[in-house]
Amino acid sequence: MARAVSVLAALALIGLLAFTAPAAAELKDSIVIKWTYLAQRVVRQLRLTNQLSAKLYGHVGVAQYLAYKQAKGNAAVNADLASAFAAHSVLARTNPNLAPSVLDTPLYEDVVASGVSVAVRDASAALGIKIGIDIATASATDAGLQVSYYRPGYPDSLAKDDVYVFTPEQIGAPRDFLLYPNYANGSTFIYPVSKIPALTAPYLKAPFKFGSADFEAENKVVLEQGGTYAPNRTPYDTDTARFWLGAVSGSGGQGSAGVTGMVQNISIALLPGTYTPEQQAAFFAKLGTAFYDAIVAVWYVKFKVPRWRPITAIQKYYNASWTPLLGTPQHPEYPSAHQGIFGGGWSVLVRELGGKTDYTFTVKSDWPNIADRTYTNLNDAAAEAGNSRIFAGAHWAQANNDAFAIGKAVGEYIYDNIDKLIYGKQAPLKW
Ligand SMILES: *[C@@H]1O[C@H](CO)[C@@H](O)[C@H](O)[C@H]1NC(C)=O
Ligand SMILES: *[C@@H]1O[C@H](CO)[C@@H](O)[C@H](O)[C@H]1NC(C)=O
Ligand SMILES: *[C@@H]1O[C@H](CO)[C@@H](O)[C@H](O)[C@H]1NC(C)=O
Repeated sequence: MARAVSVLAALALIGLLAFTAPAAAELKDSIVIKWTYLAQRVVRQLRLTNQLSAKLYGHVGVAQYLAYKQAKGNAAVNADLASAFAAHSVLARTNPNLAPSVLDTPLYEDVVASGVSVAVRDASAALGIKIGIDIATASATDAGLQVSYYRPGYPDSLAKDDVYVFTPEQIGAPRDFLLYPNYANGSTFIYPVSKIPALTAPYLKAPFKFGSADFEAENKVVLEQGGTYAPNRTPYDTDTARFWLGAVSGSGGQGSAGVTGMVQNISIALLPGTYTPEQQAAFFAKLGTAFYDAIVAVWYVKFKVPRWRPITAIQKYYNASWTPLLGTPQHPEYPSAHQGIFGGGWSVLVRELGGKTDYTFTVKSDWPNIADRTYTNLNDAAAEAGNSRIFAGAHWAQANNDAFAIGKAVGEYIYDNIDKLIYGKQAPLKW
């Protein structure tokens, strides 16, 4: 008996070593990371969807990065403190209710910890707050916040093959609303909207036609792996759908820090511990803006070629009582929002790591009661995140792959052009 126990103990130890051995380089705690986590807290508290959190993380990342840039060489200012004020300034404007309880106390703590004079405190505050106001001003002119008159072209009963209609299982009521069609006209941070039509041209005609062999092959997978009844989905895959939505059960993505927050935390675990706060800020500015600019490009395609959801096709032609595992989001299927946002951020992270992907890291999900997952390669996690949307019953594979490619193109551009901020300075996208 005793022997069996010690063998088990040895195995447990080996398991433990396997998890901790290739120790990730984990970024050092800094004001940048503290305010990144506070942004996640705001996203949770305001129950923002991935699309909205993408934008907020872009705001916060840019605010912090601009603070470090503008504080450089200015002895009258403390750069860390200016960055904290800039992040606070952006976050406090998302909802004034948050300021006292969630945001002001951490800011006071930063002021005290900095030990600076009143004059330096005030100069740092002035710089940070000005950045926050500039971002809020640019955001106020974002065409993506104007009303959109887009409605699906056909009532459900007249649904044409391949064309988007409202879905019976879509999250939220009333049934006849769409999420953010106006984002298709959004104002990007770095990736010029004028480049979006050329970038997305190959995808405007891409999705497989209903009835084609390619469609049938992909649809068979969703039919068998994406439903509430799914003969070919394993329990691990069922959890995968939930894990990478990162969402509180039944909320459709709300109430969590989102897949965006998951990518932020993976980055914190993997980036070199030697990064200065300014280097960290540059990275999170790239990551956040890549999330958002990718979603604008994806949204453009979604509303240029509004495609039906699996639930519409499958109920009409294959099984009238089929329902997806998770609720279908209320916007056209192609390309996947989740995978566009993910591809944008992921490509920034992989570039920052010099293209190396064989890291061991552990990821948490906000979905309750799902164990943390450990991966030994970034590519494995990315493939799983893509498949998660099939297991959820929300997408066919092509929408995931193409969205990831669009996100990646946007992320790559941002990676090389982070200092060309054009937020609030562009003519709206031509339709
Ligand atoms: C984007 O803006 C253009 C021009 O105002 C408009 O025609 C188009 O319908 C808008 N797209 C969406 C999805 O609202
Ligand atoms: C990221 O890590 C922080 C610190 O451990 C944690 O508070 C937060 O919940 C994590 N976010 C996500 C999305 O898991
Ligand atoms: C159709 O879907 C229902 C509900 O998900 C399921 O119970 C049934 O087995 C499916 N029928 C076939 C032929 O797969």
